Amino acid sequence: MCGIVGYIGNKDAPVICVEGLKRLEYRGYDSAGIAVVTSRGLDVRKVVGKLANLEALLKEQPLHGPVGIGHTRWATHGKPSVENSHPHISCAGDIAVVHNGIIENYADLRSRLQAEGHEFRSQTDTETIAHLVEKYYDGDLAAAVRRACADLEGSFALGVLHAKHPDILIGARRFSPLVIGIGEGENFIASDMGAVRKWTDRVYVIDDDEMGVLTTDGVDLMDLQGKPIERSVYVIPWPADAAEKGGHRHFMHKEIYEQPMAMRECLRGRLSDPDRPITLDGLNMTEEEIRNLRKVVLSACGTAYHAGLVGRYLIENFARVPAEADLAAELRARDPVVLDNTLAILVSQSGETADTLVALRELKEKGAKIVSVINVVDSSIARESDGVVYIQAGPEIGVASTKAYTLQVLTLQMIAAHFAEVRGVQSPQALREFKEGILCVPDQAAELLSREDAVREVAQAYYQFHNALYLGRGINLPSALEGALKLKEISYIHAEGYSAGEMKHGPIALVEPSLFTVAVAVQGSVYEKMIGNIQEIKAREGPVIGVATDGDDYIPGEADHVLWVPPCPELVSPATVQIPLQLFAYHVADLRGCPIDQPRNLAKTVTVE
Ligand code: AGP
Repeated sequence: MCGIVGYIGNKDAPVICVEGLKRLEYRGYDSAGIAVVTSRGLDVRKVVGKLANLEALLKEQPLHGPVGIGHTRWATHGKPSVENSHPHISCAGDIAVVHNGIIENYADLRSRLQAEGHEFRSQTDTETIAHLVEKYYDGDLAAAVRRACADLEGSFALGVLHAKHPDILIGARRFSPLVIGIGEGENFIASDMGAVRKWTDRVYVIDDDEMGVLTTDGVDLMDLQGKPIERSVYVIPWPADAAEKGGHRHFMHKEIYEQPMAMRECLRGRLSDPDRPITLDGLNMTEEEIRNLRKVVLSACGTAYHAGLVGRYLIENFARVPAEADLAAELRARDPVVLDNTLAILVSQSGETADTLVALRELKEKGAKIVSVINVVDSSIARESDGVVYIQAGPEIGVASTKAYTLQVLTLQMIAAHFAEVRGVQSPQALREFKEGILCVPDQAAELLSREDAVREVAQAYYQFHNALYLGRGINLPSALEGALKLKEISYIHAEGYSAGEMKHGPIALVEPSLFTVAVAVQGSVYEKMIGNIQEIKAREGPVIGVATDGDDYIPGEADHVLWVPPCPELVSPATVQIPLQLFAYHVADLRGCPIDQPRNLAKTVTVE
């Protein structure tokens, strides 16, 4: 996920663009750039690293002009570098493009454009857009942008400039967000309203396959066939200083709400039809390697480890490959024996966690093939892996991992389904049902977010407790472990995740009215056993929150409160069950007045062992 801005008006475009990018830096911060149209033509400044580096460069090499575009990058194709940072430029150097999204057919477009003589300077998908506009430009910039967009498959929010049109700024979108800010004698484009709120509270929110042609006098809105469209002006209700959180009070809350969109990005280009095979760019495994797999070892830390546990369950239960999952710190402590045809899957949001990196090196040295499930492109773990499947979550700022977890789970579900497909160990019906369930997750996530008020009400009944037990079984044992971690790390309530089957072997001694239990009891193979656990706890006067499937008419009579989730295949459920648990932890912490985005003693990435 990247941030784009654009400005045309009576102020200095680079100043406006940098200010706007500051409010978009949460969307990406591995490189940044700006282009303006001046009397001398197009002028560009690009840097690696944070926006502060771009500001420093602009001090040394100033840029001025009334129309410009800017970009802060979250690398998806091509490592963070000056040549891969945006804006990207046409061959003639007179067209500049900034882009947020993923162009799925960029490789094909690139080779076609190269065959037509276009020379590329970067490894990015975005650069193909600059050359496409150049190919189609015949004096009408808007028409050239429309024709270029017609060739694109995937997602985009674009800002486009042309040296021959200093009086025009173009914005266009498909699947990636874009707003058009409306000022007096000036107009803006941006990835979200926060980037323009300092100058205007009036925006057009355009839809997919729509674009705007901005001048200092106004904005012409049209679809990508050039047909004019009407949009009502949206007045931004929140003040400018709430900007970079997009109106949310905390990054964690914002990232919980980004899950449906991020999930769609994660699935895009990989799984779109339950009757078609899954394609995992970057996995870098042949079908023969997958068929010859003798074992899969997953390793990670914290939340990523919990996602790894889900992956372990799926790979063994559904893809029928012996699998184990181990905490990274523990794995290396046991000097593991690695058999031939072993695949190691390392899971990490940051790609920089020291214990996970050391575990990778240990397993690699012992002969395992290394695949990593990562969020940050070109991170240390990604660079040392044989294959990388990026989760495409976009930057996760809140220390408590939320969208990264559900996207790690979604990615591991796709890996397990892909393995099962290649190994031919599941019926077409079972494969279809699993893939269909995965495809429903983004919409179910959106539905679960709409139930937030009900979750807050449950949180109000429990935020003054000091102890909690989270119970799960089977594929939802990791859901219980992750739910407990979320609660403990932001609310400081002592929450313990436990296998419900282990209750009688010790934890049941803890049960009393001052300890509440969250029991993950969705419909599935362990439902009856979970009911038994709930009854055991209620018999000892322990309060219970049941996580139950919509329509369950038994649990409301047994549990004190219920967090509802829509029905889905049991193997898919960890991706949805976690969302009410994230919201529950968030509201408990909020009611306790905790610093949710920066919990005490914690860091977003643990780069020391
Ligand atoms: C989870 O909310 C924590 N922030 C922490 O457990 C985290 O998951 C762990 O440190 C692993 O980080 P990684 O995914 O970046 O490797």
